[in-house]
Amino acid sequence: MRPRTPAVAYDTDTGVLLLDTPHTSYSAYVGREDHIPIHTYWGPPITAEDATYLATATSEHLASEWPCFRSASNGHEEYPLDGGLQFGRSALTMEFPGAIRSVEWRLSRHEITAGLHHRDLALWFEVRHHDLTVTMHYRVYDDSDVIDRWVVVRNGSATDAVDVHRLDSAAWVTPEQERHRMSHLTGRWAAETQLRQIDLTDSHLVLESRRGITSHHANPWFAMDDGTATEEFGRVFSATLHWSGSWRMLAQREMDEPAQVLFGWGHEGFGPLRLEPGEMLKTPVSSGLFTTDGFGGTSHTWHEYALRHVLPGAEEIRPVLFNSWEATGFDVDEASQRALARQAADLGCELFVLDDGWFGRRTGDRVGLGDWWVNSDRFPDGLQPLIADVHALGMGFGLWIEPEMVNPDSDLYRAHPEWTYHFAGREPNLMRHQLVLNLARPDVVDWVFGELDALLSANDIQFVKWDMNRPFTDTGWPEQPDRQGRLWFDHVTGVYAVIDALRRKHPGVAFEACSGGGGRVDFGMMARSDQFWVSDNTDAVDRRHIQHGFGQLYPARTMSCWVTDVPTFINRRRVPLTYRFHVAMAGVLGIGGDLTSWADEETELARRLIGQYKEIRHIVQHGRLHRLGAPSRSASAVQYVTADRRESVVLAYQEAQQYDNQPRPIRLRGLDPDGTYRMDGDPTLSGAALMGHGITPRLTGDYASTLIHLELVP
Ligand code: GLA
Repeated sequence: MRPRTPAVAYDTDTGVLLLDTPHTSYSAYVGREDHIPIHTYWGPPITAEDATYLATATSEHLASEWPCFRSASNGHEEYPLDGGLQFGRSALTMEFPGAIRSVEWRLSRHEITAGLHHRDLALWFEVRHHDLTVTMHYRVYDDSDVIDRWVVVRNGSATDAVDVHRLDSAAWVTPEQERHRMSHLTGRWAAETQLRQIDLTDSHLVLESRRGITSHHANPWFAMDDGTATEEFGRVFSATLHWSGSWRMLAQREMDEPAQVLFGWGHEGFGPLRLEPGEMLKTPVSSGLFTTDGFGGTSHTWHEYALRHVLPGAEEIRPVLFNSWEATGFDVDEASQRALARQAADLGCELFVLDDGWFGRRTGDRVGLGDWWVNSDRFPDGLQPLIADVHALGMGFGLWIEPEMVNPDSDLYRAHPEWTYHFAGREPNLMRHQLVLNLARPDVVDWVFGELDALLSANDIQFVKWDMNRPFTDTGWPEQPDRQGRLWFDHVTGVYAVIDALRRKHPGVAFEACSGGGGRVDFGMMARSDQFWVSDNTDAVDRRHIQHGFGQLYPARTMSCWVTDVPTFINRRRVPLTYRFHVAMAGVLGIGGDLTSWADEETELARRLIGQYKEIRHIVQHGRLHRLGAPSRSASAVQYVTADRRESVVLAYQEAQQYDNQPRPIRLRGLDPDGTYRMDGDPTLSGAALMGHGITPRLTGDYASTLIHLELVP
């Protein structure tokens, strides 16, 4: 199919909205009576005439339904409003003066604008009984089938506040089909992004985070198919949310109706958020896509969108880093870090990251958070001597911080106990012995920025690992009860504001987003980070499952993976060093082991594999990912292919050998069928043979793995 020029259109006569992306169309119409937009189509390209016909057909169909105890439009709305005949959950729930909840609105105008690589459509709705405007926004891109949606609410009243109970970014309607199979990501700490599939029945399904962070427990993403899609083929609808705090995804479906998936910030019952006279609120973006290319095609579209439109500096090659956490824990000092740095440089690491333990009186997790001054017992002359050494070794220098937190045992808490979330007269929960700072407070945001700005100004730092090690609890703001409902929103925008300002002022500093591993992995954080710390679990076997889920939505270029020591602290498993490397080489490679205890053969092997990674990392970090089977005990692989199909790398794994079974051929994907590929010492084969028959990796025994580099013969 030839890609088309993307377009957005709204026909004022018919009320029909039509969005065209390079390979898909999306359509809806605004109802004549109630002005509720009704979804009609999302799929392969259609014409404007088709869209008009579908609007007429859908409205006639809905009008013909027997209105007995039901509302025909429920489940079809582009954005369901609380009020009227809305019996499902709504995307917008507001409370107006007089405890009135119903929203009635009128479309007042539409607006089409164009950016360099995108087109936008905004529909303006005026709420009838209050001076309040709601705008629904759509964006399509020149080079992506992803559609962005968001909503802005403006309280134009000079006198009256309104309470926002729910303000989702979008409702995504997927058509009635045989089955509504939803793939989603679940998990917990050290077991993030586990891929699951569930069939929606005639009910609700809620995935959400109530924790103030994106969470380890659910990631804001789904992919919906009719039960027949595979990695390579099939119709898939998918959506996500660009947001790093609490969120809710609610899928609802009535018998024989389409599935409607509401996506928005804030968990159920978070607020309400009071919108004062004159205030406005812009929701985060929810992005959606449709493809006929199965789950693999879904991931390709997400990855390419992420690299083109979300991730800053996506074209960079991420360096191989060393991180001190698993090597030295809290026991960091200048001598131990210098020793590690020397060995890291000798292996070929390019960035040395000093993790927790360098600041305040931090000798363990009970003390020091909030005191972002350098611990002079451990670093008598500050960090600069270590930084200078690290630089002299040819590496960049990185530092761990956890700026949203405070230990009660800290100078900061002693000075400002009121800066934490708490309820007056109640004892707050001390998870990991720490409290969350109230970043909904502008003075706290300013303070955090000031501390970090000073740190980055005083030290020659190239990388910051921004951590966040506990969920919100006790979310009170005693001095500002009226603003308490806002904190779930304002904390996140406060974090965004600090990182954005730091990035502007210190453009040479890269950021790694971390929250006890992968607790804050999302497109909102990606827009201001360079990579994610995916999980505290560095066991290579578990990690393959975590990476498999992560890669459904997020590109390898953002997936930071370390090789650490065995047995791992998480499950005492021992996996060979080569296997550990091959798993970590599927993303942005890092090293996290105690190098001072590595044997010479291990160091030698690591040096060789790091060297090999540097030769192929442009393919992994910027190529297209093909999942050749899900992680399993028998052989499976991940493959990356450059955009020009000239190079590819296959990482194949066998966790356990059964009997004398040898791996079956693994069919490759995405190559040039007419080209011939050279494979490290193996015979050359055509792309057609490699994709039609496959390669048989040599994998014998348990935890066997291999890396195969393919190059097109010119
Ligand atoms: C979190 C991170 C770890 C490490 C520790 C330090 O758990 O995920 O990588 O930085 O904090 O306390």
